[in-house]
Formats: sequence, structure tokens, C-alpha cells
Amino acid sequence: MPGRPGTELAAGVVDPSLYASDPHPLFARLRAEAPVAWNEERGFWAVTTHAEVTRVESDHETFCASKGILVDEIGVSYPSPPTILHSDPPAHTRYRRLVQPGFKPSVVRALDPVVRSRAKALVDRLSPGEVTDVVPMLAVPLPLLVISEMLGVPEEDWERCYEWSEAVVPGAVDWPEERKQALLAEMTDYLVNATKVRRAEPRTDVLTELAQAEIDGEQLSDAELAMFLIQLLVAGNETTRNLIAAGLVALAQAPEQYQRLRRDASLVPSAVEELLRWTSPVLSFMRTATRDTELRGVAIAAGEPLLMLFVSANRDTDMFGPTAHRLDVGRQPNPHIAFGFGNHFCLGAALARLEGRVVLEELLARFGRLEVAGDVERTGSHVVAGMRRAELRFTAV
Ligand code: HEM
Repeated sequence: MPGRPGTELAAGVVDPSLYASDPHPLFARLRAEAPVAWNEERGFWAVTTHAEVTRVESDHETFCASKGILVDEIGVSYPSPPTILHSDPPAHTRYRRLVQPGFKPSVVRALDPVVRSRAKALVDRLSPGEVTDVVPMLAVPLPLLVISEMLGVPEEDWERCYEWSEAVVPGAVDWPEERKQALLAEMTDYLVNATKVRRAEPRTDVLTELAQAEIDGEQLSDAELAMFLIQLLVAGNETTRNLIAAGLVALAQAPEQYQRLRRDASLVPSAVEELLRWTSPVLSFMRTATRDTELRGVAIAAGEPLLMLFVSANRDTDMFGPTAHRLDVGRQPNPHIAFGFGNHFCLGAALARLEGRVVLEELLARFGRLEVAGDVERTGSHVVAGMRRAELRFTAV
């Protein structure tokens, strides 16, 4: 629609080519010139500032999730929410109460030894001095092993979990649509059936928790089971993988920051937060206005979608000051919104933080230096900051 703010600048915000290279110069201009900008081609508002993204996230009555969270879903309607992310209160509150116990901090803390033994075994396979693609060697297997184990998927099926989660994330792989749909159907059948088996043979895993869960006195329907399981499997894989791969590339590109961590390992937790801010593994999610409103002086009409660009908000100088564009492993405070904000705040945040911390600790203990030694290739997704390849060299202590 002519006359709307930022139409020229916002034209490229979901272009794959933007995310395959460096999107930050465009976001800096959007934040400065049109923080709420209209994308004419797909028909949505691009929201790029920290204050406005958090405002949208904080007000689910005005900005709902149930009309889709991805630009590809504009105009689509669902008989029931395909993921918990697609629900609003009160349904969302009920769903969240069901899955939250499996991810609370005490449960996640108890996973430390599992995560550490998996991470140690993977780090042991890295050969000092050689060019190593950390995507297949470390970033893909660690979250996959951990989430599959938490769910209760047997080891022989972990390879299939990988293909399933690849097929579901938009832009992650360029497989034909039919193959992706077939994999989605296979994943749904597999997980729903596995849950039913747990009703007869309970174990201590998330599959059993969901098998036994009830909403208003009734067991979960197949659609609800699929919703929880697919989301946990996919969310537990794709995001943490990219935190690890893109985070290690960032450290390799800022060797003084890696050396700071080597000198002072107590900085590892704040380094994980900074790598979350820096890499924003989830780049953006969408909401839809439920009524006429305004955002930063821009009129938004009922029914219009808004794309919240976490990746841009996480470099906003109004929030992070003049050093927003510098990687600082000691940054305090660090109010990044890589895990979102408000009622949908990432359920797996504690688990992702644990994986990030353990990987860094294991690498710092073994390697004195890391550097980029070959190709670094990003996917063109505007949803997940995917890494196809990240060739690094680790030098022994
Ligand atoms: C670095 C890793 C991760 C990042 C950056 C990340 C990011 C996010 C973001 C941005 C959201 C949406 C929040 C919002 O709309 O406000 C989200 C939601 C969610 N995440 Fe994560 N996530 C990560 C890892 C995980 C893991 C390991 C799991 C589970 C095993 C997980 C499960 C979920 C679930 C279930 C939701 C939906 C929560 C709801 O709708 O209430 N995530 N995550």
C-alpha cells in the first residue's frame, strides 16, 4: 500500500540472500529510519527495535500468535494449533503448564552429566591442527543426542530425528517439498505411536510424561501429542545447533575474546548470553494484530501481521549502547531477546544454556586457539540462523 513507512527498506527483510551474508547494515538503517516498516510484497510490518519487539511480545491480546508465527503462514488457518507457539492464552497457559515441568531448572541441572559426557566424546574426536567442519562434528550431534535422549527416542532412530527436524524448519534444506511433507508425516506417526506405547509401558522420559498428561481430565489427542513432540524435537535441535556453530565462528573471528575466556573461565556463562545475543539463532517470529492499534506512532490495522526481528533487536544501540556491534563475552547486563520475551519465552532456554556452557568449557580445556580455516556458509532462512558449514581449526593447549 503506497504511503506506508519504510516500504523501500523493508522490501528485502525476508530475502534469503540477506541472511546468507550480513543483514546488520540493513537492520541498522531500519531501526534508525523506519523501526516499524511495511513489506509490500508479502504484506507485513517489519519490527526491528528492542522496545517495539518486546512491546509486541508483551501484549498477546493485541498481537496474537494463533494466526501464524511465520511469514509463510500469512492467510493460513489451522483447525488446532500446529505448535504451542501458535497458541494464545488461555489454551497456551494450559499447554505450557503441561510441558514446563520437564524443562524446569532442577530437571535441566540434573542433565549436566549427560550433556557433559556427550560433549566430551564429541570434542575428543576433534583433531588439533586440522580443518574441522564443526557443523557435523559438534553442532548437529550434541543437541540431537540430548533432545532425543530426553524425549526417550532410542539411539538407532537418532539419524531419522535429524532428517525430520531438517525437513520442518523453513529454509533449512533445499529438499523437494514432497520429501519434506513425507518426512513430516513419518515423524508425526513415529512420535505419536511411540507415546501410545508409553501408555502401556511407562519410562522416565518426556514421551511418557506426555502419554500420561491430561487436559481437563482427558488424555492428549493425536494432534496435541504431535504438536508438543514435533516442536520439542525441532526446537531442541535446530536452534542450539546454530548457537554452537555460529557462536564458535564468532569466537574464532574475535580471538581476543576466546583468550579472555581461557584466562577467566568464570566468564563462560556471560559468554553464552553474549553468543546468544550475537548469533540470534531464532532470527524472527510473527504475530498478527487483533484490533486497530499503533506501534511507535505507526497505525496498525486489525488483521495485519508483524514480523519481530529478534536478530535486529539484539543489536539495538538504544538497548545495548555504543558497543552493541561488538562481541563482548563479559557483557553485563545483557537483556537480549534471543529466547523471545513474555508468555512464549523459550521453554528450552535452560537446556540450551547448559549445552552452550558445557561445549565452551570442554573446548577451552583442550584448545588454546581457534580460527576460521575454510568455508563458513549460512542458510538463507529468515527464521533460523542456519549454518551449513563452519570450517575451523583448533590448536591444542
Ligand atoms: C539456542 C537455542 C534456542 C533458542 C535461541 C530458542 C529460541 C526460542 C524463541 C525465540 C522462542 C519464541 C519465544 C517467543 O515467541 O517469545 C522459543 C520458544 C520455544 N522454544 Fe526455544 N530456543 C532454543 C532452544 C530450545 C530448546 C533446546 C528447546 C526444547 C528442547 C526449545 C523449545 C521451545 C519451545 C517448546 C518453545 C515454545 C514456547 C511457548 O510457546 O510457550 N527451545 N525458543
